[in-house]
Order: sequence, then C-alpha cells, then structure tokens
Amino acid sequence: MTSLYSKTKWMLITVAIMVIAILGAAHHVFARQPAETRLYLVSIGVGDVDLITLRAIDTINKSQVIVCRKKTEDKFVKYLKGKEILDASLSGWRTYRKDRAAIKNKKERRKRRKSNETRAKLIAQIRHALDAGKTVSVLGSGDLLIYGGPYHWYLEEFKDMHPKIIPGVSCFNAANAALGMEIMSGKESHSALLTTARDMEKFSKHHPTMVIFTMHTKFEDLVEKLKTQYSPETPIAIVFYAGYKDKEHITRGRLGTILQKTQGHDFPFEHLVYVGDFMN
Ligand SMILES: C[S@@+](CC[C@H](N)C(=O)[O-])C[C@H]1O[C@@H](n2cnc3c(N)ncnc32)[C@H](O)[C@@H]1O
Repeated sequence: MTSLYSKTKWMLITVAIMVIAILGAAHHVFARQPAETRLYLVSIGVGDVDLITLRAIDTINKSQVIVCRKKTEDKFVKYLKGKEILDASLSGWRTYRKDRAAIKNKKERRKRRKSNETRAKLIAQIRHALDAGKTVSVLGSGDLLIYGGPYHWYLEEFKDMHPKIIPGVSCFNAANAALGMEIMSGKESHSALLTTARDMEKFSKHHPTMVIFTMHTKFEDLVEKLKTQYSPETPIAIVFYAGYKDKEHITRGRLGTILQKTQGHDFPFEHLVYVGDFMN
C-alpha cells in the first residue's frame, strides 16, 4: 500500500516537472517571437528612385494603405497604383506632445491647434485602416531613425500596433559613396560623428571625422564654428544632392579657405558637410 502510494506520488511529481518544463520551453519560444504587425515604417532610400530596397517594394506591395507626402507619391507612382493614399503632412507631427496652453501668442496658438487637428486626423485614419484589417506603410526618405523627423513619434503613438521599420539608404550612405573614401581612416581618430551644427562642438576634442546634417544652417556660420575646433588646414567637403545621379556633386577645400570657394552660392537643403583628415 505504502509502495503504491509512493509510486503514484513520484509519477505525479515527474508529470508535474514535465509539464513545467514544456510550459517553460513554450514560453521561451513564444516570448521571442515578435508580435505580428500590419504597420510598417518604410524607407524609400534617398535621391533617385532606384535607391529603394527590394524589401521596401515588397512591403509596399503587400500594403493596402500608404501614408506619404505628395512629392513621394509622384516619385513612386509605379509602386502605388491602386493603393489608398493618406497625406502625411510633416507639420502635423512637429507639435506632437507639445503643450498648446503654454503658447501666449494667439496666432501661434491657432497654428498649433490646426497642426494638432491635422495630426489627430491622420492618426485616426491610420487606426481606422488597421482596425479594418488593412496593412499600412508609412513612407519616408533616408534612414528613418537618423534625424528622421516624425518617425520616432509614429513609433510612440502606435506602440500598441508593434510597428516595424524597413531599413533604407541614408543620405549619409550615398554621400560616403560619392566621396569614395573610407571615412574612418583619419590620422587623429578612427571614428566618425554624425551630428548637427548645434551639437558638434561638444564632441570635437579628439577630431573625429565629422558628418554634419546641416538642416538649414548657414554654411558661413558652420565654418566659423568649425574653425574654433579644427585647424585651418583641415580638409572639408560638401556633398550636394547625394544619391541623385544627375545632380550629385562635391565641393572640396580646406577649412581656412573654403568660404572663398563657396561665396555667392546658394546651398540647397540637401547637402552634408564632412570634416576630417581622412581626406588628406
Ligand atoms: C532631417 S535630416 C534627414 C536625414 C535622413 N533621415 C537620412 O538618413 O538621409 C535632413 C538633412 O539631411 C541631409 N540630407 C538629406 N538629403 C540629402 C541629400 N540627398 N544629399 C545630401 N544631404 C542630404 C541634409 O543635411 C539635411 O539637412
């Protein structure tokens, strides 16, 4: 009797251990599976249309709804035929999580309200499409997470939908290719810093290669700032329209004298500035 009791007890313990092990293994497997998504943030690359990736095209193909700006719609029209297009106005996102009540100026407050309304409308449209079981792709240029503008706000706003990023070619990649040089091969430092005019001074002590996303900064002001950190002999290059076969070009020089070369030239928004002795 005692032995039957003991046998049953051990059988039960063994079964319990097996169940726990199976549940543990299943949890381990499923916990590592990313949740399935129907919301994609898709890079369309930079410059010409042929710098989009195959993965981006596949993702667009399987989407019923595309969120993009008019300019992008016109450029990628051959991939977007028959898709429902939602207009993605950038202005709607600039005010994300910003408090309207803090604005004193009436006109500015009205502008902010409009911008909030634009964003709320777009968010509602995207949610509506997802609720209806549709797949949605938000298109953006370059690497969406390098000074990407609204894309990190999309990630925040739609966190519950587990959005997925489709990577793409940044202007930084295209500009490196245009320069055709190993940008980490400096004498003083084998590092590169991606930065803006606002932040560059903080990290320039060891003279890394600097890649400056200019964002409307006046080139003269940028050069004056750089001169406080680098010697006048340091090479500098400006890559205009990286990734555009017909428009891409580079102006090269030295920090001390570059302004003589660029005087009187209007700079487009699309230019990256490289500084560093890797160009020596
Ligand atoms: C808001 S950032 C966007 C960068 C984008 N996320 C990327 O990875 O390409 C904009 C800045 O990138 C640079 N830029 C964008 N497109 C460019 C291009 N085709 N050629 C050179 N620079 C470009 C300019 O410095 C511009 O001020």
